Amino acid sequence: MAEAISPLDPDNMPRSPGATYQDLLDTDTHEVPEVLREQSPKFLGNADVAVTRYTSREWHEKEVAHLWRKVWQFACREEEIPEPGDHIRYDIANLSFIVVRQNDGSIKTYPNACLHRGRMLKEFDGRASELRCAFHGFAWELNGDLKDIPADWDFCHVQKDEFGLPEIPTGTWNGFVFINPDPECGPLDEFLSDLDRQFQRWDLSKLYISMHAAKVMPCNWKIAQEAFCEAYHVNGTHPQILKGLGDCNSQVDIWENCARVITPGMTPSPLVGDVPDNEVMRAMLDVREDEPLPPLPEGMSPREWSATMARETLREAAPDLVDVYCDAELVDSIDYTQFPNFHPWGAFNRIVYRFRPNGDDHRTCIMECFLLMPFSGERPPAAKVRWLEEDEPWGKVVGFLGQIFDQDSFNMPKVQAGLETTYKPGITLATYQESKVRWLHHKLTEWVEDAS
Ligand code: FES
Ligand SMILES: [Fe+2]
Repeated sequence: MAEAISPLDPDNMPRSPGATYQDLLDTDTHEVPEVLREQSPKFLGNADVAVTRYTSREWHEKEVAHLWRKVWQFACREEEIPEPGDHIRYDIANLSFIVVRQNDGSIKTYPNACLHRGRMLKEFDGRASELRCAFHGFAWELNGDLKDIPADWDFCHVQKDEFGLPEIPTGTWNGFVFINPDPECGPLDEFLSDLDRQFQRWDLSKLYISMHAAKVMPCNWKIAQEAFCEAYHVNGTHPQILKGLGDCNSQVDIWENCARVITPGMTPSPLVGDVPDNEVMRAMLDVREDEPLPPLPEGMSPREWSATMARETLREAAPDLVDVYCDAELVDSIDYTQFPNFHPWGAFNRIVYRFRPNGDDHRTCIMECFLLMPFSGERPPAAKVRWLEEDEPWGKVVGFLGQIFDQDSFNMPKVQAGLETTYKPGITLATYQESKVRWLHHKLTEWVEDAS
C-alpha cells in the first residue's frame, strides 16, 4: 500500500541553511503572484525505493498494464494537427494510437489498428481525407465511421454500422492533447485539476512549438525523468553553474497528481557562499573568462538584470506580460511534473519535457524536449520533431540548455548499469530535495503495485 500523504509544517521539513526560495522572492522588484508564494511540502516517508522498478521486466509489464494502459497522458500539441485530417501517431510501450483532427475541429483518437486483419493503420504523421489501410484497402471516415470495404460482397457478415473505429478518451489542456487508452477512465479535468490550478496565470495555449527534439536514451524512462526532478545533482553534475544557480534554495511542492521544483536563477548556490555579481553572470550566461560580460547597471542585481532582459524579449510577442511578470517568473526554473511523465515549466521559461519507454524495452526510453514560444499575428507552424542520433549532443539543438542536458545524459546509462549490478535492493532518497522523485514512486506504488 502507498504510505498516506501527510503534510508537514514547512518550517519543520529539513531545509538547506541559508536563504529559502521565499526569502529570495522578498527581494523581487515586482509583485510576486500567489502561485509562487504557495508552499506545499509533503513527507512521504524515507523508505528505500526498490531497484527492480528500473531493472525488472516484470515491473515494466505491470507498468504497461496498470499505468500506461490506464492513465491520461500527453500525446501531442494541438498545433501539430491544425487542419481536418491531420493526424499524429502516438506510441506508448507496445501500444500505438492515431490522434486525428476532425472536420468540426474536435480531436478523436483511435487504436492504430485496422479492423480487418489488424495492420497498423497509419505509420506516419500527415494529412488525409480518410483513414485507409495499406494492406487490403479498408477505409474509415475521419470520424471513425466505416467508409469502404473493397469487394464488400465478400463481407456480408460485417455489420457496417458496427464496424467503426473504436474511440479512446481524448481531451485538451492548454494546447496539449491528452489521451487515455482506458475507455473506462475518469475525466481528464479531474486528473489535471492541481496542475490546472497552478497554471491559471500562465496560458500555454497561446504558444506554439518552436523546437521539438527527441532522443533514445539508454536507461529506464524513470532514470531519465528523475534526472530532471531535483536540483540536488547540480553540485555533482553541473558544477560550472553553481555560482549562478540557487540549487539548495530550491522549493519542492507536492500535490496529488502534480508536483514542482522551483530553482532560483542568477543567484549563487549556498554551497559556494558569497559570489561577486560578475561571476554569477559569467556562470549563467556561459561567458568565457577572456570575453566581456554585458554591463550590469549600478545597483542592479544579476536577477533583476536577467529579468529586465527577459522583459525585452517579451515586448514584441507578448507585450501584455512585460510588466505583469515578476523577476522570479522570468528568471527561475519552475519545473512542474504532472503524473506520470509530463513536465511543463511555468511562467516565462516555456520548456516541456516528456519521458516514456522506448517501445516495449524497459532499459531504453525516449526523452523529448519542446520549446514553446509566444507569437504575434498568425500562429507559426509547429516545428517538426528532430530525432537526435545516439552520439549527437543535445547541445546541437537546445543551445546552452543542451549542454546541461548532455551532462545529465552522461549519467543516465551509468545509473542503469549501476542499478543492474548493485547488491543494495533499494535506492535511498533525500527527504526534502528529492521529494519529487519520492512522490513519483508514491504514485507508482498506488497505480502499479497496489493495482496488481
Ligand atoms: S488489414 Fe487492413 S485492410 Fe486488411
Ligand atoms: Fe541536470
